[in-house]
Amino acid sequence: MAEHVYIEKSADHVGKEVTIKGWLYAKTGKGKLQFLQVRDGTGIIQCIVLKKEISPEAFDAAQRLTQESSLVITGLVRADERAPGVPGGIEIDVTHLEVIQLVTDEYPITLKEHGIDFLLSNRHLWIRSSRQWATLRVRATIIKAIRDWLDDHGFILMDTPILTPAACEGTTTLFETDYHGTPAYLSQSGQLYNEAHIMAFGKVYCFGPTFRAEKSKTRRHIQEFWMVEPEMAYVDLWGDLEVQEQFVSYVVQTTLKQRRNELKLLGRDLSPLERVQPPFPRIHYDQAVEMINRAAKAGLVVPPNDEPVPAITWGDDFGAPHETYVASQFDRPVFVHHYPTAVKAFYMAQEPDRPETCRSADLLAPEGYGEIIGGGERSGDLAFLEAQIERHKLPRDAYQWYLDLRRYGSVPHSGFGLGLERTVMWICGLSHIRETIPFPRLLGRIYP
Ligand code: 4AD
Ligand code: MG
Repeated sequence: MAEHVYIEKSADHVGKEVTIKGWLYAKTGKGKLQFLQVRDGTGIIQCIVLKKEISPEAFDAAQRLTQESSLVITGLVRADERAPGVPGGIEIDVTHLEVIQLVTDEYPITLKEHGIDFLLSNRHLWIRSSRQWATLRVRATIIKAIRDWLDDHGFILMDTPILTPAACEGTTTLFETDYHGTPAYLSQSGQLYNEAHIMAFGKVYCFGPTFRAEKSKTRRHIQEFWMVEPEMAYVDLWGDLEVQEQFVSYVVQTTLKQRRNELKLLGRDLSPLERVQPPFPRIHYDQAVEMINRAAKAGLVVPPNDEPVPAITWGDDFGAPHETYVASQFDRPVFVHHYPTAVKAFYMAQEPDRPETCRSADLLAPEGYGEIIGGGERSGDLAFLEAQIERHKLPRDAYQWYLDLRRYGSVPHSGFGLGLERTVMWICGLSHIRETIPFPRLLGRIYP
């Protein structure tokens, strides 16, 4: 048998006979000629089966092939600019064909339109479809870029627990489980533990699954998502933002370089991504509120539904249309900083001159993708944190260890959390977050 090669590397084998091991994605043909679109996990390639070039049994098998039948093909690699596929430009002239399994039940997902519920119920098969495949390949590259940048910039990986005794991001979205008779919660964020880690390691990150019992259906929320959370000792809010803009720009530019074919397959307009370079604009919450209210007064609308920009009262958190409008005013991601202390998590540092605002910042992605990062400077003030724990009705005992961090060598420190799926959604240009993770956990759905 010829050398087994993966489709993404097929261009390195032009003029040679190779073997491709994969599945039939689609087939067209007439009489003595069959065009097989074969996928192998790394790409899709057109394989040409000519009756006179192959045994009668093999030609017959090619004619009877059904969608998603598994097969091993041997043939000559030929370059042809017009050849469809991913990466494309390469065809195989088939000399041998072996069917591993002929699919006899009709494959549920065809090239026609299917409803979203049907596709989600068949997610275990849907991931084979080219758009899903491309999205999840981009996801893997984003993950690697995230890790590479942090590993190369002195951040130490620290894994934080998933079973936790207390909330990090408010009690309304906690998933409760039974921990041998006492309640425990699935982690909403590894941040509080990372604040312990930095006092031992300086700069750290965790990158794992996080859980939020989000009680409404939106395009941007899932119940289980992955978040990368860097945390840094002796860094203030402004230092935090400098790290974020370098980090996000690296992730976007690396993905653009390494996954151009997948992004093209998804139909992504690459020019807004090419503009993602530091520095990112920074605007104060006060300024954002003014911008929003000017737009509301002028009756401006925002995508995707052309809804009017709603007016906002100082002190309120932003809704999706507010974020979309603010972000639309800039050509790259924008930081909104100094949100009202009352709308942010208990640990945010107050701004000394204006304690009703805190040293927090969200990073809003362009093109309506909204908040992809939440972060800021953490309070070092023990009395304030004790009062906040009370104000947020959090159980005091569960936070004693956290308060110890303010008793023993407390230092100014900051960090942030980047939502992986929101980032994939933005980079891929998708309209819904559900396709950015292999098996999304959505409100009212946990199958498959
Ligand atoms: O703004 P959040 O809640 O911040 C934190 O959890 C901090 N503890 C992070 C830190 O400073 N270490 O969440 C951070 C990011 C959001 O900006 C968003 O990208 C994502 O996590 N996120 C979600 N993504 C998908 N579905 C959800 N339900 C999400 N909730 C938050
Ligand atoms: Mg947030």
